[in-house]
Amino acid sequence: MSRGFDGKIAIVTGAAAGFGLAVSTKLAAAGARVVMVDIAADELHRQAKEVPGATPVVADVSKEADVDGYVARAVEEHGRVDLFFNNAGIEGRMAPMTELSVEDFDRVWAVNARGVWLGLRAVLRVMKPQKSGAIVNTASMAAIRGAATFSPYIASKHAVAGLNRCAALEGAPYNIRVNAIAPGHIDTRMARDLTAQIDPDDPTGVFEQTAQSVPLYNRYGTADEVANLAVWLLSDEASYVSGSLYLIDGALNA
Ligand SMILES: NC(=O)c1ccc[n+]([C@@H]2O[C@H](COP(=O)([O-])OP(=O)(O)OC[C@H]3O[C@@H](n4cnc5c(N)ncnc54)[C@H](O)[C@@H]3O)[C@@H](O)[C@H]2O)c1
Repeated sequence: MSRGFDGKIAIVTGAAAGFGLAVSTKLAAAGARVVMVDIAADELHRQAKEVPGATPVVADVSKEADVDGYVARAVEEHGRVDLFFNNAGIEGRMAPMTELSVEDFDRVWAVNARGVWLGLRAVLRVMKPQKSGAIVNTASMAAIRGAATFSPYIASKHAVAGLNRCAALEGAPYNIRVNAIAPGHIDTRMARDLTAQIDPDDPTGVFEQTAQSVPLYNRYGTADEVANLAVWLLSDEASYVSGSLYLIDGALNA
């Protein structure tokens, strides 16, 4: 029985937690072999044991050698790359720009923008000669709106939306589809850290208030719900979808 991704080779970044772990789990369950990439070595090795057939690769997506290395590892082990979930990202420090340092900006930019570009460059170099492939980049609703106190993250996710469009145009002549997801408030470690940054004395209060602000269900989304969208975009069912940015936000930005 076909499970949809039988024999496909996938790379997932930020795979030790959140969306990356959820997508790795779903792709493996559907028959793909997953190269799971993360900077958090212990957590990555622990989680990869639960994902059948997965290869854990410790790498920092902001570093050129690490990115070229995780793609080379996938090719050495499996000979090709069919699917790429270009997802690792960090939230950085929340504060008005007048209170942020250059280092605060550069770190977020290095992981979220340069890291996504490095991943696209290395994976497209493999997919173009194959003349096939599907890529999903993780942007955010931060790619379509501003927010006071969140300028490095907002800028980096606008960059992901731009890189997504460029990669879709570069990939199209080679039958490579490239799309981005733009999640709203999703309950992962990152979202919990943000509530603690907003009010260290009452993160639960911030969490509950944020949940109430979401029109659909008055709750945060789950990593599983986001993974369902990403996996669909990676699948052949999305054969005519490319260059798009998909909000998944419970109507928050409607
Ligand atoms: N949770 C949300 O509400 C939300 C909303 C919109 C977009 N996003 C985006 O989704 C993506 C995944 O976030 P999440 O919520 O699953 O967060 P998470 O913190 O649970 O998971 C992120 C993973 O990325 C890894 N990572 C961080 N920096 C890395 C680096 N330099 N190299 C390799 N791996 C690195 C972390 O170790 C972690 O395992 C991010 O790009 C984030 O910006 C999250």
